[in-house]
Amino acid sequence: MPDSAPPHAVATLIDRIRTVVGDRGLLTDPIDTESAAEDWRRLFKGRTQAVVRPGTTEELAAVVRLCAAAGVPMVAQGGNTSMVGGAVPNEDGSELVISTARLNRVRALDPIDMTMTIEAGVTLKAAQNAALEKDCMLPLSISSEGSAQIGGVLAVNAGGNNTVRYGNARDLVLGLEVVLPDGTIWNGLRKLRKDNTGYCLRQLFVGSEGTLGIITAAVLKLVPRSREIAVAFCSVPSAAAALDLFARVQAHDAAAISAFELMSGLGTDLVLRHIPNAVLPLAEPAPFYVLVELATPRPNAGLRASLETVLEAALAEGVVVDAAIAESDAQRAAIWRLREEHSEAQKREGASVKNDVSVPVSKVPAFIDEATAACEKLIPGVRAVPFGHMGDGNIHFNLVQPIGGDPRWFLDQDHPIMDTVNEVVRKYDGSFSAEHGIGKLKPYMMPEWRGGAELDLMRRIKDAIDPRGLMNPGKVLP
Ligand code: MLT
Ligand code: ZN
Repeated sequence: MPDSAPPHAVATLIDRIRTVVGDRGLLTDPIDTESAAEDWRRLFKGRTQAVVRPGTTEELAAVVRLCAAAGVPMVAQGGNTSMVGGAVPNEDGSELVISTARLNRVRALDPIDMTMTIEAGVTLKAAQNAALEKDCMLPLSISSEGSAQIGGVLAVNAGGNNTVRYGNARDLVLGLEVVLPDGTIWNGLRKLRKDNTGYCLRQLFVGSEGTLGIITAAVLKLVPRSREIAVAFCSVPSAAAALDLFARVQAHDAAAISAFELMSGLGTDLVLRHIPNAVLPLAEPAPFYVLVELATPRPNAGLRASLETVLEAALAEGVVVDAAIAESDAQRAAIWRLREEHSEAQKREGASVKNDVSVPVSKVPAFIDEATAACEKLIPGVRAVPFGHMGDGNIHFNLVQPIGGDPRWFLDQDHPIMDTVNEVVRKYDGSFSAEHGIGKLKPYMMPEWRGGAELDLMRRIKDAIDPRGLMNPGKVLP
């Protein structure tokens, strides 16, 4: 339990905070506080008396100092797009939400150093666009990039569509600025590619989900902008065929793969049904689909021809049933939309239980087959919708409620469902949380998966940096 103040202590603190951030930096209207206290999936509903929106790192640090002095716990929040309730306060109203939304400046962008120094509240999409303006690229892309903010993206170590080529968010971080639980500002905004000077502190904060401090700015690595991109949408008879196709693309031009995404027939069907203007670019529906993207900064690299060569052979051998290669930017976007709208389509279909898991890439087909069978046995009529980042082994093994079933009842089965899926994940030496983090949803899994020395070390780190447990209580650690 955090050493926190009672709810009334928050009320007395708010006036003091107002003198630091002004009226603009403080939201106390129930419309604002209620929406900040609920996650977008509507799985967790907390309560907070105020959302504090500092305009600078110094203001944020001053707010943290005031909260620390009053013993009031803090929940950092960016775009509030966490899949695991990582940014919602608890139910008793004793925690303050600190929003990074107004820390939204690109402080620097250097195309020679290939870095950008960017504040936590910049959306991922805005960061990508800023890089493109200077002919560079921030190679991180996730479905929620229009609202997810850099601070949250780093706090959870987001992965997404380009991990197969560029790694996760942590692989792109050269430097960080963090406000520590006592309000101290750690300025580690270095741009160096080589810097072996003791413990790598920035990587401690990346992935810590706001439990060790609040990330206020970062130096991110950029790459040269892609000059040629080729995207194909393929139907395949099985997940095993999708793996075969991955091996073929890798053998042909591994360095060009920038995304290799899997979609099930059912998941894609939900997108076609629920998302306006979504169209299948192929004549017939199939059990699985694959989106392959090749990209390179080299002009005239012949990526389309490369893709055609691989696909022709795969079609001839029945590995691929049909394929469409995008002929324009609009077609490319339409294909990507079929993939990106999977979560939204599932939400519109009814209740779903998400399993953000990873296994070695070579085990993806076996995992999907076995996890599907296990879930269908657990809940007859449940609909498995596996999709996601097959190229890095991260599958979103989501389960949609049986048709006509009670959504509340289905959501109450989340632990048995997740445990059933995780048993198969364990068999293949996978992870129960690949890219969404632990948040409020999964701390109960930590002892079983990370218990012993690993969890003990995590607790000692938490106690050393945040001894009073004021930063994002109840998240990550059980
Ligand atoms: C995605 O890749 O679209 C999201 O991470 C997945 C999800 O909604 O489970
Ligand atoms: Zn994903």
